[in-house]
Amino acid sequence: MGNLISVKIWTHHGSEVICEERSHVNLYELASMSAIAGCMPRVVRGEDGILTWEEIKAAIRPKIYYDSQTALIALENTSNMAGGTVYPTDRVNEICDRAHDMGLKVHLDGARIFNAATALGDHVAVMTKKVDSVMFCLSKGLGAPVGSMVAGSKAFIEKARIYRKMFGGGMRQAGVIAAAGLIALEKSPARLHVDHENAKLLAEGIAKIPGLQIDPQKVRSNIVIFDCAATGMTAVELCDAVHPHGVWAQDTAPYLVRVVTHCDVDRAGCERALAVLKEVVTKKRNAGA
Ligand SMILES: Cc1ncc(COP(=O)(O)O)c(C=O)c1O
Repeated sequence: MGNLISVKIWTHHGSEVICEERSHVNLYELASMSAIAGCMPRVVRGEDGILTWEEIKAAIRPKIYYDSQTALIALENTSNMAGGTVYPTDRVNEICDRAHDMGLKVHLDGARIFNAATALGDHVAVMTKKVDSVMFCLSKGLGAPVGSMVAGSKAFIEKARIYRKMFGGGMRQAGVIAAAGLIALEKSPARLHVDHENAKLLAEGIAKIPGLQIDPQKVRSNIVIFDCAATGMTAVELCDAVHPHGVWAQDTAPYLVRVVTHCDVDRAGCERALAVLKEVVTKKRNAGA
């Protein structure tokens, strides 16, 4: 809803929104950008989910009366489906400067922006200084049971309140949720490096299991996506095989598996997950031999 509210504020019916192909706004928000905000996503594929200004520029529609017009650029940091990859802050700033020069707005889907800040060793306030609006989650890495926030200028927030209500998100009893959210905001950022270390441990362990493929260098935050094509199992089969052993993994493509570290998973749990993965993959190889 935070992303949708932001899209709604920065666009008109018939506007185009530039976003990365694998982004949440494009894939996992029920086409609400189109169905509710009346916009068309103009998707661009960025290496590791991270867009460059040149790639964005090429997707901006010319100012011709018969072309739908670009209104907004929506970035995602970290990029979830690209494996928790991180935008360098210079890149975000460059995109914002150039976009603003052209009269375009930039929204940041910062669902995991605190993970990005941990990876960069930087502050969220600095990293998001130039974007026009930011959505971030109190759940996920920050560990609150529920909740997402939208941040922007005073005028933006005044409009956001109206659309939140209109979209069914008004809540009179939000204090109890906000209390957990405050704890998440105050306490969790300082421990995110643990999740990142655990994700690295997982990635390095996975890279050593014959049949599984991942470049551990690319794992910068708490998301690990690996290829299982060479095991003879599909991602769904692999996820189903590890689940009875207490390992929860998600298929994100026919041969891509996603695992995420968070405050409820410790190092011992990750080592156990690696042992289970190894056992399941080896069993399959031996069965096929
Ligand atoms: C990248 C990204 N953006 C936005 C969201 C939406 O989060 P929520 O529905 O909790 O506000 C998610 C959650 O899955 C996400 O991964």
